[in-house]
Amino acid sequence: MSHAASIEISNVTKTYPPRGDSAGWKALDRATFSVSPGEFVCILGPSGCGKSTLLNILSGLDDQYEGLAAIHGRSVGQGAVRRPSVGPRTAYVFQEPRLMPWRTVRANIEFALAASNFKPSEWRGRIDNCLALVELSQFSEFYPLQLSGGMQQRAAIARAFSIEPDVLLMDEPFSALDELTARRLRQQLLTIWEKFRSTVLFVTHNAFEATFLSDRILMMTKGPGGKFCDEVELSDLSRPRSYEDVRVFEKSRFVVERLVSHIGQIDVE
Ligand SMILES: Nc1ncnc2c1ncn2[C@@H]1O[C@H](COP(=O)(O)OP(=O)(O)O)[C@@H](O)[C@H]1O
Ligand SMILES: [Mg+2]
Repeated sequence: MSHAASIEISNVTKTYPPRGDSAGWKALDRATFSVSPGEFVCILGPSGCGKSTLLNILSGLDDQYEGLAAIHGRSVGQGAVRRPSVGPRTAYVFQEPRLMPWRTVRANIEFALAASNFKPSEWRGRIDNCLALVELSQFSEFYPLQLSGGMQQRAAIARAFSIEPDVLLMDEPFSALDELTARRLRQQLLTIWEKFRSTVLFVTHNAFEATFLSDRILMMTKGPGGKFCDEVELSDLSRPRSYEDVRVFEKSRFVVERLVSHIGQIDVE
């Protein structure tokens, strides 16, 4: 195992147990890849190929798997002790914001900071800084239901960055938003990432989004036994990237062609 890797996945197999009359379902079959520190990697694959399963394993939410999943050389799940005060910090942003509706935006972020053992004296500064980065400074005392879906998702992103994560896991965080809002949030995400340089593993089924955001795309085929089938390097696409840049469009067309050559069809956006 390369000690320089921020995320290491080696021969990870996940089988969901049988339930009722249905047989067990193999969601991942010997998945293997690694991500370097500070790298922005997208996993691109059709619905049901095992993307969320993989992030659940990496975040420690699911510890029933075979193989090795490690962050900064420490294995996750499988009896590994989670001690948020030491070692690498991981943040997870989901498709829905998952804010606690009875807490204000500020109190939601405080909850995350407390869970990661940050001193209360640091909270205000961290929260104000992260809310400013997602342009929500005026909304810190609002409750989630008083905000639009896009604003809630920005609050979730602020919460994720407030703990200065070494590793940020993102599961289709923009796919429930309208395309114009999603575009602004992608751009904001890249601006923040360039400040923090967290390692990002971003899951999507949108080839253009993957091309616009990442340094490298890992492609997955459909289940059962979702597999990593291909990889596209994007480091030659200079940053900051723009939606008007024809090279981004051309590259994303190339990515779609590659994906189709593996899976035969693609989700209609
Ligand atoms: N808790 C579960 N129990 C049984 N099967 C599951 C469970 N979660 C996901 N699956 C199955 O595993 C496969 C991969 O799911 P998932 O990781 O959510 O895919 P993706 O995020 O790529 O859409 C799907 O076929 C799904 O039905
Ligand atoms: Mg999913």
